[in-house]
Amino acid sequence: MPSTTLADRTTPFRLDRDVHPALVSMTDALRANHRFAADIADRCAALFGARWADEFELVVAALFPTPEAVAAAVKGYAAFAMQSMRLQAAFEVEGRYRPKTHGEAASEVYFNEQHMMREYLPGLLLSHFLWPHHYRQVQFFDSAFVDVMRMAGASSFVEVGTGTGLYSGMLLRRLPAVRGTGFDISPSSIRFTQDQLEALGVGHRYEAQLRDVVADPPGPLAEWLVCVEVLEHLDDPVAFLRGLRATMAPGGRAFITAALNAAHADHVHLYRSHDDVLAHLVEAGFTLEQSFVGAAYRPSGPGVPVPLAAAFVVH
Ligand SMILES: C[S@@+](CC[C@H](N)C(=O)[O-])C[C@H]1O[C@@H](n2cnc3c(N)ncnc32)[C@H](O)[C@@H]1O
Repeated sequence: MPSTTLADRTTPFRLDRDVHPALVSMTDALRANHRFAADIADRCAALFGARWADEFELVVAALFPTPEAVAAAVKGYAAFAMQSMRLQAAFEVEGRYRPKTHGEAASEVYFNEQHMMREYLPGLLLSHFLWPHHYRQVQFFDSAFVDVMRMAGASSFVEVGTGTGLYSGMLLRRLPAVRGTGFDISPSSIRFTQDQLEALGVGHRYEAQLRDVVADPPGPLAEWLVCVEVLEHLDDPVAFLRGLRATMAPGGRAFITAALNAAHADHVHLYRSHDDVLAHLVEAGFTLEQSFVGAAYRPSGPGVPVPLAAAFVVH
């Protein structure tokens, strides 16, 4: 049996071109063109290891199958991240998001096909793996929701605000008997979700529907409901949550998240803390089972707000 030295056990995981070629293309493109994020993938590889790399490779290789497509996605990610950083700097000074309604965000972002397909959706997709608080939220989703669905023998789920489709894709890949339905107001999000699920070979178990879930809450009753980073995009999150609660079957469970203290072009409602979101969930009739909060980075000084991801398993 080969012996393992202490050095083997403490050497951080590193990307290897033969095993993770798409991720190495991504790292090359980041280093060549986007110095602010030159080592972000290497840092995440060292932090999260082989499981992170295998899953990220699968998604990137399916959606962006050539080095040119990877470089274009990376360019979109860089624009998405730079926009976030600019708006976050203004938020740190002003203490609030720039005033905007959901309708204004929808026309500026969700119905702007070029922006969605080139920047927002590739940027958001890569951020789910490249931003540590986003990936820790994925890990929480796996342990607190997907594993519970598996043990309960779940047969279907609903996702509201599919965006990239990453969370729906994870459920379909991890639970091979499950079927899903996804809703989004943006034709680009619907297309991106469908493209991803087809490329991953799970699209035949999914129906993606264009729908404004505020004006027209989804049905039929969902036993397992997923809603990731939608609340902060709405004018009245509580009214939306009441609509979601009403779509849940008796005994159903939901995984609901929000971005806190995180300025972005389509962030309308400012949540400052985990308890702000929890208060809205409770007001809408949900009961907390478990929750998670992760920070994007350490604050640069006392009182400087830091973007957080907050996720809740509720019934
Ligand atoms: C930050 S993204 C969600 C992230 C996504 N869950 C993911 O994992 O990639 C926000 C999404 O919510 C959608 N959205 C915003 N308002 C909506 C509404 N009223 N009805 C349906 N979808 C909405 C947007 O089009 C966008 O795709």
